[in-house]
Amino acid sequence: MSTLQATGADTKDAVIEQFARHVSSGKTAFFQMSGIDFVQGRREGPFIWDMAGEKRVIDCHCNGGVFNLGHRHPDIVQALRDSLTTLDIGNHHLISPSRAKLAARLAELTPGHLAYTVFGVGGGEAVDLAFKVARGFTGRSEIISARGGYHGHTGLALAAGDAKYYRPFGEPAPGFVQVPFGDVEAMETAVSPQTAAVILETVPATYGILVPQPDYLAQIRAICDRHGALLIIDEVQAGLGRTGKLWGIEHFGVTPDIMVLGKGLSGGIYPMSATCFRRELETVFHDDPFIHISTFGGAEVGCPVALRVLELASDPQFLAHVEELSAFFAQGFADLQSRHGQLLVGLRQLGLMMGIEMVNEYCGPLFSKAAYDHGLLSVYAYNDTRVAQLLPPLIIDEALAADILQRVDGALVQVAHMLGG
Ligand SMILES: Cc1ncc(COP(=O)(O)O)c(C=O)c1O
Repeated sequence: MSTLQATGADTKDAVIEQFARHVSSGKTAFFQMSGIDFVQGRREGPFIWDMAGEKRVIDCHCNGGVFNLGHRHPDIVQALRDSLTTLDIGNHHLISPSRAKLAARLAELTPGHLAYTVFGVGGGEAVDLAFKVARGFTGRSEIISARGGYHGHTGLALAAGDAKYYRPFGEPAPGFVQVPFGDVEAMETAVSPQTAAVILETVPATYGILVPQPDYLAQIRAICDRHGALLIIDEVQAGLGRTGKLWGIEHFGVTPDIMVLGKGLSGGIYPMSATCFRRELETVFHDDPFIHISTFGGAEVGCPVALRVLELASDPQFLAHVEELSAFFAQGFADLQSRHGQLLVGLRQLGLMMGIEMVNEYCGPLFSKAAYDHGLLSVYAYNDTRVAQLLPPLIIDEALAADILQRVDGALVQVAHMLGG
């Protein structure tokens, strides 16, 4: 029997061994060392079960927004089933009804009605294209990003991130500059007539859910306008309802020139990313409309899935539910802070994009382990390890939110013990 066939008889140990031998020895060793004895098995709604069945976690990682709608949302699964009856990937050069329909819907829903969309498979790819469009349109090459920000591990996106991610792999692509997030003066100094674009996450997630000052993004918009640079907003994590609005950027009243989407657009079922941009920017492709290619980007079979995601995420009732949960968590964390004042600095929060800020850089990793022991999947912020990300699915009810808070409470007690408190 082929080793690729799921036999149903695979034991958990055999899977771990095969993974270590053929996928990643390092990750396997990491999880073993951390005491995280978990192999993904059944998953449904907010939950993932270990394949051996004895452990269940509430998914408060959600892959940074992939599972905004929970795991295997019935409407999303149905959308894929329906599209599979007639569609496949499609030809990426030919005119496509499903790609046209999805792009048209994005044009209606995006801030400033970003008229054109080029689809990709992952967020990094979509960010790379955003840079290409900005460079092609402005004829300039410099891209400015925020230190601690994260835009993916593909070629250009990698160069816009922190050096620790590209240093082991040789020289990054040229033309990239970083400034501190939240520092208007530093941006004013950095932006010049050579600047093609500034890229910012609305709320830098890997940097620890750093919610910007209310006027920061508007000031960056103004700086870009003064210098003829484009503003790219990365909504890969903040988009699609996570913050209580369809787009995180709506909280700040700013219209980007280019917006990048990924993760949640997949509904957790079919990979899809999008680079949405102003009508004028499409002129970049007038000389040669085939100059950018993604064979699987905007695969026809996945477009109805993304369309359904957009329908669900833009529903005012759904967004109101996220706002209600957000207030519930804010109150819950205020209570937790009164009991864990020595450890818990506070909750960074925009809707259900939440970061648990703790006292030192050991706390994030320790919290991830403690959360796991308490039945929560929560991953710490890799670019600020004082912070643990708390990103529950947006479809949970208040009872489960209360359950999560109780588990966070237990995890904080455990972290305090581990720190020797
Ligand atoms: C804000 C942001 N942008 C872009 C990306 C890259 O997305 P992908 O991993 O799909 O390439 C990520 C991934 O975590 C992200 O968080």
